[in-house]
Amino acid sequence: MKNTQQFIKDNQQKFLDELFALLRIPSVSADPNFQNDVAACATHLATHMQHIGLDAVELISTAGHPIVYGEKIVDPTLPTILVYGHYDVQPADPLELWKSPAFEPVIKTTPIHPEGAIFARGACDDKGQFFMHIKAVEAMLQTQELPCNVKIMIEGEEEVGSPNLAVFVRENKLKLQADVILVSDTGMLANDVPSITTGLRGLSYVEVEITGPNRDLHSGLYGGCVANPINVLTKMISSLHDENMRITIPGFYDKVIELSSEDRAEMAKAPFSEKAYCEALDIDTTHGEKGFSTMERGSIRPTLDVNGVWGGYIGEGAKTVIASKAFAKISMRLVPDQDPEEITSLFLQHFESIAPPSVRVKVTPHHGGQPVVTPTDSPAYAAASQAYEKTFGKKPIPVRSGGSIPIIAMFEQELGLKTILMGFGLDSDAIHSPNEHFGLFNFYRGIETIPYFFQNFSTINQ
Ligand code: BES
Ligand code: MN
Ligand code: MN
Repeated sequence: MKNTQQFIKDNQQKFLDELFALLRIPSVSADPNFQNDVAACATHLATHMQHIGLDAVELISTAGHPIVYGEKIVDPTLPTILVYGHYDVQPADPLELWKSPAFEPVIKTTPIHPEGAIFARGACDDKGQFFMHIKAVEAMLQTQELPCNVKIMIEGEEEVGSPNLAVFVRENKLKLQADVILVSDTGMLANDVPSITTGLRGLSYVEVEITGPNRDLHSGLYGGCVANPINVLTKMISSLHDENMRITIPGFYDKVIELSSEDRAEMAKAPFSEKAYCEALDIDTTHGEKGFSTMERGSIRPTLDVNGVWGGYIGEGAKTVIASKAFAKISMRLVPDQDPEEITSLFLQHFESIAPPSVRVKVTPHHGGQPVVTPTDSPAYAAASQAYEKTFGKKPIPVRSGGSIPIIAMFEQELGLKTILMGFGLDSDAIHSPNEHFGLFNFYRGIETIPYFFQNFSTINQ
């Protein structure tokens, strides 16, 4: 991999310019106003994948946004790595909180990234990260050091739950045949504390609607006589946690796998500063389920959070009104072996059961996803671990993450393949937030580390 590493060093500026071009395309999958940009991003990517020398490059249209695919089959008897990523991004709102425009990438330094970071929507999630694979593969192709087969599949709907990729995977099992799936769409602990993500939480997402009277009412004439949907909704929501911050939905914890005390002790070895965590968020103290550490609450324990709540009058000044309806969006992050459909139905039954007779309740489920844990005793994990050791000079720590990538569990179910999550982002990179960024250190270190994974994985599998 000597020539590969040299090629990467020699092409740093070119790689960055190319990433900037990708970041300038506002591929927001959730907003129909950006549909043409999403399509343009897919086309741009397909052209680029062709340009670096991949074969069978395809722009695959779906019922939603296109999937981009390309491959290099060096020798069918060699192992195959399937790289997955997503070129779609979250909406950039609220735009006024961005210090530089979301789709005009710039390099700025931060205390955590003194060598500079790329600021743009999608810089870390996930354009900057999947692009590391494209550049690593380009380097191996150019130097004729690609040690195995590679298939690259980049989708455009991850941020909206991958509805059409799931269909595509189910219908293209042969095309996607591989030995392992490799994904960079997660994070690591710190630039001097490399880590490999070994778990993702699942997700159940619901929207609730509480209806009281058939119209908005004068709060003086009717106040005190009819149920106020906003009062009722907030009370129902607050009853979903008990005083120990445990979720009160009957059966919610039934399938939760509790970690052994050995596993918890192992987890506790990962460096974590409660003080630095609080300082970074301007909070005085953390908050969560009794009996668990902050690291545990954010990874191995399930949660329930209101993501949005609305209803009634929120304009200037005061309007005396009892709203007819109140709404909330609620996410539940799940851990093995909780099942999103089952949790959604438990939520629905419970939420309906706690509503007073004075209101009506409607629960609408949105997309969900299964939780995942990946083994640390597999040849693929060893290959990844040794790759990090080579470039970071340190053994990476396995850590379970709190985020979700719903398609990963699908890959395992449909293709029978395990995934290696080699994420190079940091929690402080503000993904989904204004001023999202990705460290230059992280971008280049990722590109350097990936070829070693290819090499190690190919050697182990021969
Ligand atoms: N890349 C993230 C997930 C992630 C980030 C996992 C950091 C671990 C560490 C992904 O793009 C994402 O945002 N997923 C969504 C779920 C999806 C269904 C919208 C999430 O976790 O909220
Ligand atoms: Mn992502
Ligand atoms: Mn995301």
